[in-house]
Amino acid sequence: MNRLNEQFEKYLLDNLPKSKSFHPHFEKALQQMLVAGGKRFRPLLVLSVTDALQPLLLRNALPVAYAIELLHTYSLIHDDLPVFDNADLRRGMPTLHKTYDEVTAILVGDALNTHAFFLLADAPLPADTKVEIVKELAREGGIEGMIIGQAIDCWFEKKKLALDELKFLHIHKTAKLIAASLKIGAIICNEKEIAKKLYDFGIDLGLLFQIQDDLIDALQDDTKAGKTTSNDENKNSFVNLLGIDGAMKSADELVEKLETGLEAFDTKLKNNLKKILNNYLYRHKNL
Ligand code: IPE
Ligand code: IPE
Ligand code: MG
Ligand code: MG
Ligand code: MG
Repeated sequence: MNRLNEQFEKYLLDNLPKSKSFHPHFEKALQQMLVAGGKRFRPLLVLSVTDALQPLLLRNALPVAYAIELLHTYSLIHDDLPVFDNADLRRGMPTLHKTYDEVTAILVGDALNTHAFFLLADAPLPADTKVEIVKELAREGGIEGMIIGQAIDCWFEKKKLALDELKFLHIHKTAKLIAASLKIGAIICNEKEIAKKLYDFGIDLGLLFQIQDDLIDALQDDTKAGKTTSNDENKNSFVNLLGIDGAMKSADELVEKLETGLEAFDTKLKNNLKKILNNYLYRHKNL
């Protein structure tokens, strides 16, 4: 685990959401998927950008990175529900609706979503910076991003999309939150130009991430992936549209573009991003 990862993990455990009441298990359910782990890709993107641009702001960036992880975790909890992807395993554990019930899973998702915005409002940053971050996360994680992506993903199950429509789907359901994470790392440092460049880079990175995820569904078992796989049978995925080889080729093309893109960033930012992305750019090669 690297330094940023360790710092984030400690912050998360020290700041688990609380909901005190006489409910027998709601608070435990609220924390379960956060404690279960996950790669923490999005918060690490935020932190590695802030660390490169303004290392003294790293501590102030922690609640922001955490808020994005909360929103992402909510999206996974809802994504696994029977009406979405009907998955039993997530982050190496039974999904929340399996451990408890659907009402609990829906409400935990709702709670992580709203709590994310509470944390942003409460972060130790200037008010105008926080407004920018709230707008960014609400837009990219909401109706112009993840939500419309998930709506299209589910509505078009069993209905084949064209390649450009599939790209739209993947960019919205996954890439926009990843792009926003990079951008928010720069917004924290008031670096507007860099924020814009990072966003564009992040869209390609996020598209690669979801193509790799489609390949994981096809090529990895549940235990290895820590989540239910072989579950995309009726989905519009790169594997279903282009086959394994076609999906691999699309991923390789994006990697090439991202490698070039990385070179355009200043040394510190480039090096920080490379440290994280080395684990991700080539992960489809090892499936
Ligand atoms: C899974 O996200 C859903 C996608 C957008 C592909 P991650 O692969 O980042 O899941 P965790 O956070 O590591 O569990
Ligand atoms: C989910 O995509 C994207 C989200 C916004 C949650 P998938 O449905 O492919 O993610 P996994 O494979 O279940 O993690
Ligand atoms: Mg899904
Ligand atoms: Mg799913
Ligand atoms: Mg998937």
